[in-house]
Parts: sequence; structure tokens; C-alpha cells
Amino acid sequence: MSGFGNEFATEAEPGTLPVGQNSPQKVAHGLYAEQLSGTAFTAPRGVNRRSWLYRIRPALTHGGFAPFEQPRLHDDFVHGPVSPDQLRWSPMSIPAEAPVDFVDGLFTMGGNGHAGAQQGVGIHVYAANASMEGRFFYSADGELLIVPQQGRLRIATELGLLEVEPQEIAVVPRGIRFRVELPDGPSRGYVCENFGAQLRLPDLGPIGANGLANPRDFLTPCAAYEDVESAAVGKNFELVAKFQGHLWRADIDHSPLDVVGWHGNYAPYKYDLRRFNAIGSISFDHPDPSIFTVLTAPSDTPGTANMDFAIFPPRWLVAQHTFRPPWFHRNVASEFMGLVHGAYDAKAEGFAPGGCSLHNCMSGHGPDAATFEKASNADLSKPDVIADTMAFMFETRAVIRPTQQAIDAGHRQRDYQACWVGLEKHFTLPRRER
Ligand SMILES: [Fe+2]
Repeated sequence: MSGFGNEFATEAEPGTLPVGQNSPQKVAHGLYAEQLSGTAFTAPRGVNRRSWLYRIRPALTHGGFAPFEQPRLHDDFVHGPVSPDQLRWSPMSIPAEAPVDFVDGLFTMGGNGHAGAQQGVGIHVYAANASMEGRFFYSADGELLIVPQQGRLRIATELGLLEVEPQEIAVVPRGIRFRVELPDGPSRGYVCENFGAQLRLPDLGPIGANGLANPRDFLTPCAAYEDVESAAVGKNFELVAKFQGHLWRADIDHSPLDVVGWHGNYAPYKYDLRRFNAIGSISFDHPDPSIFTVLTAPSDTPGTANMDFAIFPPRWLVAQHTFRPPWFHRNVASEFMGLVHGAYDAKAEGFAPGGCSLHNCMSGHGPDAATFEKASNADLSKPDVIADTMAFMFETRAVIRPTQQAIDAGHRQRDYQACWVGLEKHFTLPRRER
């Protein structure tokens, strides 16, 4: 179903959805009615999100929760090390042997804020080689923006099925239960867990009514359900929850993906980043990267996002008398970048698909020496085309504190700053007449 944040209505069996009311005395087909509230009941209408689910069993039907050991996934950003150093990582290797599913394969790189305060983000990467079997997951801490880099994901959610491939994204709202299957086997990608206000499309201002990510290109699944008892398939099922920064598990004797019909505007969605209508300079100068914002999660300060998700897709560069790549920069906001595909235009080498970089508040960053040299001497009478690329940025207002495991990781490039060593002093003045 097409459209961002629409009021959808969908049923996998005819006659499931009640007409003219949400909670009839008896729901069709012997189902239970359950409301899933993604915003405060009283949130303004334009941002109010909730859905009504008609399901085989209510969501409360499971055993008690106990801690689940997956220490690589957490959001304790207070005790980790943080320095103003620019940081970069090579791609995390995908495990080859024991089965590692999406939940076990999550590795927290850093973050800020706290789920308990409903502000900040957790930034994770995942590297997995197996589908989740008999395991269902949800995060009560934030909505999950999932950016696959290698391998497709088949995300079976309570509200329906999302299939995403690299260069597409999926967003699973806070609380929605899902299972990730890996049709291609070894898979890797990035996850931004947004603890703050829900992601939305940015305002377009003078751009007008169209452009950037167009609302009709966001796709939400139709209802699809499983009527599966664990005993019938001879397996123990478990429900894994992320709650206040840690994982918990509970036994569950059935698939919780048992929603036969639903209506509302709180639902998962996907988007193909290749449909992004990139807009840029047709005169001079490289615009601010906010022009590439796909989705934004506002904070309490107008114009200052809790997080922005921006991409750097294929595009033409035509600016005249201009240094065309991204400029040298320091930013009050903090920038975590990843690369899904191809090469990024500010780095000649070292930033590989699956890798990532972190440039925190006021830390200088910018093109490497080779890129500076090339772009400073480029023939601007010809346009440049940047083809075959898809980089992205999670930008946050607060400093992104890397985790100790990210600092200690073998795939961290401890020589990252060397990419700028060749930026030599060129300062000269015209010889003055004396
Ligand atoms: Fe920057």
C-alpha cells in the first residue's frame, strides 16, 4: 500500500475489519481487537499514530521475561569512551560458521540520549548468516531504521511482510514484533534505533510540493498472518524484547505474527532510495547536505533534529567555479556515515561498502588529499556524474558516543587520519613590489 503515514485498512481474510467502529463486542472470526499506540493519545492529529489490530491472540499472551544475553547490543552510551578523534571502520566481517541471526548479529557502534527519556539514537550494525527461527523481536526503545548493505531481508512483521534489498530501507516502528529472514544467506547492514519522535518526511520549504523522497514511494505491507502453534511444529518459540537498553526473552507458544487484519497509521514501511529525487546546485557551490534528507525525527527545538537520515545518491555535479565535492567542515551536529554501494565522492579510498565513519561535534572532516587535489584541478566546463553510489548519514544533534567494543574492534581503521596527511600548505602571496 502506497503513501507515507496514510490511514490504511487491510485484511488478509474477508470480513475481518469491523465497520464503523474499532472494538465491537465480538470481533469477526473470533479474533481479539487490540490498539497499538505509537504516540500519546492526545498528540496533535497531524502526528498522532495508532493502529487497531485484529488478531488470533492478544499481544500479552506469553511467559515472563528474563534477561537475554546479547552484550554486543546495548545503549549504555554514558560509560563508553568518547574523544574528538575522527573515526572510521572497515566492514564488519560476516560470521561464517555457527548460525547467527539478525538479533545475535547486532553490534552497537555508538549513540546518544536514552530510551527512557525518549531522546537520542542507538546506532548498530548487523552481520548475520541465518534467518531467525522460532524467534520474534521487538524494540520498545525506539523505531528501527534498517539499511541493508549486503543481502536481502525478508521482514515478517505483525502487520505484514516487507522485503527489502540493498539500496532500500525498512522502518519498523517501536513495539512492532517481527522476524528477519535472510534469503541470500550472509547479510550485513546498519540500524538506527530512534528513541525520539517518529521519523517523518522533512518540510520542503521553497522546493515546493514535490521532490526529495516523495510520499507515494513509501510502501506499507498488506495484512498477512501466521496461525502457528509452537507445539505443532515441535519447536520452542521465544519473544525477544529490547527494553531500556537491554534484551529480554520470554517463552511464547505461538507465532505473534497473528494479525489477520488491521487499520490505522502506525505501521512498518519500506522505501527504495533509488527513487529519491536529488536536488542540488545548478549554479555554484555545494549545498548543505540537509538537501539530501530522506527522513527526519524532530527534537523539541524547531529545526534541530533528534536525528536526520540523509543519503548521497547518484547525481550530476554541474556547479561552476566551485570545489564540487563536499567541503571541509565542522558541525555542531554529529555525523555517522555508512556506504551501501559504490564509492563516496569525498574519499578516494578506505571507505568501503559496509564500512562506517564517525565525525563528532566540531571535529574537522572533509575530502581526503587525493580528492582535494583532483577536484581543485578538475575541468568545470564539463559536468561530472556520480554514478553507482549510495552513501548515507545518520546525523544527530547530540554527540554520538562510540561503544568500547567499537573502539576496540579489529576492523577500526586506526590510521584513518592519515587520509588527510597529504593536505599540504599551499599558502602563497603575490610577490610585492618594494
Ligand atoms: Fe559534515
